[in-house]
Amino acid sequence: MAWACRGFFFALLPILFSRLPSEPPLDRGFVPWLGHAVEFGKDAASFLSKMKQKHGDIFTIQVAGKFITILLDPHSYDSVLWESSCQLDFSKYARLLMDRMFDVKLPDYDPNEEKVMLRSALQNKNLPSLTKAMFFNLQTLLLSDPSNLSRQWTDEGLFHLSYGMMLRAGYLTLYGNEEENYNDPSCQDKDRAHSAEVYSAFYKLDQLLMRAARSMLTAAEKKEAANLKGHLWKLLSVKRLNSKANKSLWLESYKQHLEELGVDEDMQPRAMLMQLWATQGNAGPAVFWLLLFLLKHPEAMAAVQGELEKVIRIRGQTMKQMQGISQEMLDSTPVFDSVLNETLRLTAAPFISREVLADMQLRLADGRKFSLRKEDRLCLFPYLSPQMDSEIYEEPEKFKYDRFLNADNTEKRDFYKGGERLKYYNMPWGAGINTCIGKFHAVNSIKQFVFILLTNFDLELKDPEARIPGFDKGRYGFGMLQPENDIMIQYKLKD
Ligand code: HEM
Ligand SMILES: *[C@@H]1O[C@H](CO)[C@@H](O)[C@H](O)[C@H]1NC(C)=O
Ligand SMILES: *[C@@H]1O[C@H](CO)[C@@H](O)[C@H](O)[C@H]1NC(C)=O
Ligand SMILES: *[C@@H]1O[C@H](CO)[C@@H](O)[C@H](O)[C@H]1NC(C)=O
Repeated sequence: MAWACRGFFFALLPILFSRLPSEPPLDRGFVPWLGHAVEFGKDAASFLSKMKQKHGDIFTIQVAGKFITILLDPHSYDSVLWESSCQLDFSKYARLLMDRMFDVKLPDYDPNEEKVMLRSALQNKNLPSLTKAMFFNLQTLLLSDPSNLSRQWTDEGLFHLSYGMMLRAGYLTLYGNEEENYNDPSCQDKDRAHSAEVYSAFYKLDQLLMRAARSMLTAAEKKEAANLKGHLWKLLSVKRLNSKANKSLWLESYKQHLEELGVDEDMQPRAMLMQLWATQGNAGPAVFWLLLFLLKHPEAMAAVQGELEKVIRIRGQTMKQMQGISQEMLDSTPVFDSVLNETLRLTAAPFISREVLADMQLRLADGRKFSLRKEDRLCLFPYLSPQMDSEIYEEPEKFKYDRFLNADNTEKRDFYKGGERLKYYNMPWGAGINTCIGKFHAVNSIKQFVFILLTNFDLELKDPEARIPGFDKGRYGFGMLQPENDIMIQYKLKD
């Protein structure tokens, strides 16, 4: 009898909320061990917002045997972002994902040091050469291909166009051109063909990576992923990369770093593929959402077009004559900047996660203290708050192109929650040690693509009534969201 009672007691355990009073409320779910893994993987945003309604802005959930504490109070994010790496580690989980997604196993190295080195290759004095190369490569893809220069309307999926062009030009910019003499049209043909081959395999692989990260691929999908990776490793082999012209300093630095670690010639292309995903997986989807919002909001499109014309006219130029777009010009577009930030607010959804290495106490901005256990994971999800938080943004689900502008076109920076001004109100690029190292290059690339496209082509939705598609919900937590389905547009060269 006593045993039966105990069994009954234990059966109820999963719905008791706390482990210790000092710990965040615990929600194990009803499935032993797996806990909330299924809901979490299917649609993390709606699952976590349900948990938030139930428990508040800090709670712990069980997911596939792991306890994950979710913190959703942006006023308290600093206590995680700047905590020392002996208590909260950001690289352990990243290494697990590297292996699951890209079969990458690297010897021990200091991830902070690597970040500093690669960041400097993408920023400051190294930024102008990237910007110039990106301009050239975008022209190769968009304006030099005779088969594309039609004055007839051509139909194309907007997602396919955006992701394809950004990935291909971004890849050529970082990894180099096929041949030295790259003003020669036949060299440009080779760049077009090679980058299209990379994109085609990469795109298919990208569709499998989220479930690979969760170890949820079927046997057939595993085989497909292995084939695609094999193909891409060949395209990114040591020999092929060595033979390229106009390689970026970023590529040279990363290669040298791998060699110094003693990484062999079979592992190097795997690391290069992982970097292709880290560097090229986000900008294309961002451009898709941005163009779609502009096409669906004519007043926003008019404001961006007007600003663009003005920026070019003031400098006495036409886009067609331009050999490049100067940084000064790229920095003179407050309306576009607000459009981009608003787009990213709505569609960027990375997790910021840490492994808890030692039992510790987390102090929130309101003074509450919570104990965290060694070996649990701590996770911020800025997409739910601040980005989609209705206490911070009016009608947070709506695209408002001037949300980040004051009446005089200067940048709006004051946003509040609970009466307190927020330090973090939009976090598409991460924050603290988890800030995107390619941010400035990414912004320049996105602007250049959109400017070249809007000044050279007429662009329309095939179906003006087409609805903005929902998200592929399995991608929450991994950066930019992708649409559930593509949207058809038509475009033609301007007269
Ligand atoms: C809209 C475009 C982009 C967005 C929203 C974005 C956002 C992010 C975020 C949130 C992270 C995670 C930071 C972390 O957890 O440590 C990240 C990492 C990274 N990003 Fe970006 N990114 C974008 C484009 C780019 C581009 C174009 C590059 C190209 C150079 C790039 C290079 C990287 C790299 C190399 C990392 C990994 C840094 C590390 O070693 O931890 N990103 N990005
Ligand atoms: C590409 O390489 C060629 C020859 O090495 C050089 O003349 C040219 O300036 C480079 N272009 C860019 C955009 O880096
Ligand atoms: C250019 O043409 C190729 C082949 O005709 C096509 O696959 C590609 O999508 C086109 N790109 C653009 C921007 O029109
Ligand atoms: C957009 O966000 C970036 C930070 O990612 C910031 O530097 C820039 O000033 C913002 N611009 C506007 C208009 O919000």
